[in-house]
Amino acid sequence: MGSAAYFLVAEALTNIVKHSGAEHATITLARAGALVIEVEDEGTGLAGIRRRAAFDGTTMLSSPAGGPTLLRVELPYEGKPVTRPTNWGGQDGAFWAANDLRYDALLAPLTRHLLPAADIRPDDRVLDVGCGCGNTTRLAGRAARDGWALGVDLSGPMLATARQRAAEAGLTNVRYERGDAQRTPFDTVDLVLSQLGVMFFDDPVEAFTNLHRSLAPGGRLAFVCWQAFELNEGRVLRREALSRYVTVPPPRVTGALSFAEPARLREVLTAAGFGDIELTDVREPLVVGSTAEAATAFDLGDPTVREWLTEAGPAAAARATEALREAYAARETPDGVVLGSAAWLVTAAAHI
Ligand SMILES: C[S@@+](CC[C@H](N)C(=O)[O-])C[C@H]1O[C@@H](n2cnc3c(N)ncnc32)[C@H](O)[C@@H]1O
Repeated sequence: MGSAAYFLVAEALTNIVKHSGAEHATITLARAGALVIEVEDEGTGLAGIRRRAAFDGTTMLSSPAGGPTLLRVELPYEGKPVTRPTNWGGQDGAFWAANDLRYDALLAPLTRHLLPAADIRPDDRVLDVGCGCGNTTRLAGRAARDGWALGVDLSGPMLATARQRAAEAGLTNVRYERGDAQRTPFDTVDLVLSQLGVMFFDDPVEAFTNLHRSLAPGGRLAFVCWQAFELNEGRVLRREALSRYVTVPPPRVTGALSFAEPARLREVLTAAGFGDIELTDVREPLVVGSTAEAATAFDLGDPTVREWLTEAGPAAAARATEALREAYAARETPDGVVLGSAAWLVTAAAHI
């Protein structure tokens, strides 16, 4: 049973107790790789659990009509994500693309660590992995004035914004290509760069081996990735506030947080052929909104948050939104809503 299972058990219990009014809830390990959750329900509040169970491919059986509903929920965990993966090519990417300048401003404190660490030289050829709307690719292109920068990403909407911004800036040595950085063979580069774009691979060793292959002798790797969920106040605040009223799926240990563990990071990079691996603990306050109102409005536009709220229904959604607004208001400062973050700044060299 993976750690995601424990999150899901805790989450399921919390939701049952808080929302369902259930008389009994028992959770047992039925057999290896599956948990069984049995809930005697008074008829309220199980919609979220029911829907998530369906999403996870869970089997559910209802008891005969008459008595309280008995849901039998089998959750096959191993290797399965417990929330939907981010849809970069679809609605999630489109939201990001529509708010690119806001994300650039939000992440600027990380960019200020990444760029100096990447130590871009005038004739460098740079590959920016998971470039999104391409701010770091453009910064790399400016630094590599006699070289070039290529941004690669899965997301059509984000790349469209990236191309538009590069054209507006008149940058002729910057280009963007759509592709999966895990498998696409790239031209030889001197630097592989990434701001939060390398945590989403299905097979990280395959991906970093592919990126390593693109590096010239003496080539460098520089990226930032998130540390653990608990160290990123924005994630914690949002989750705590919303989950008082709506079902918020457990934080995923895959996806954005997949490189939170330094040992795993080192293992993956070493297996892919990198050496001189250095991790720097980057703790930066991030401005998540100019006011509590702005921070709340931004979250409400996020497709994932919208999904949680819609699923919970209008009354619970309204209460959850108010809880979020209050939580942000408690953190408002003259500089905006400022929340702590934790990232790893990672640099490495391509060993032959
Ligand atoms: C958190 S966003 C960061 C975007 C950008 N680097 C920034 O700092 O604004 C992660 C990006 O990684 C991209 N991505 C995820 N998996 C990818 C893959 N296998 N190949 C290329 N891009 C990928 C996503 O499409 C998304 O744009």
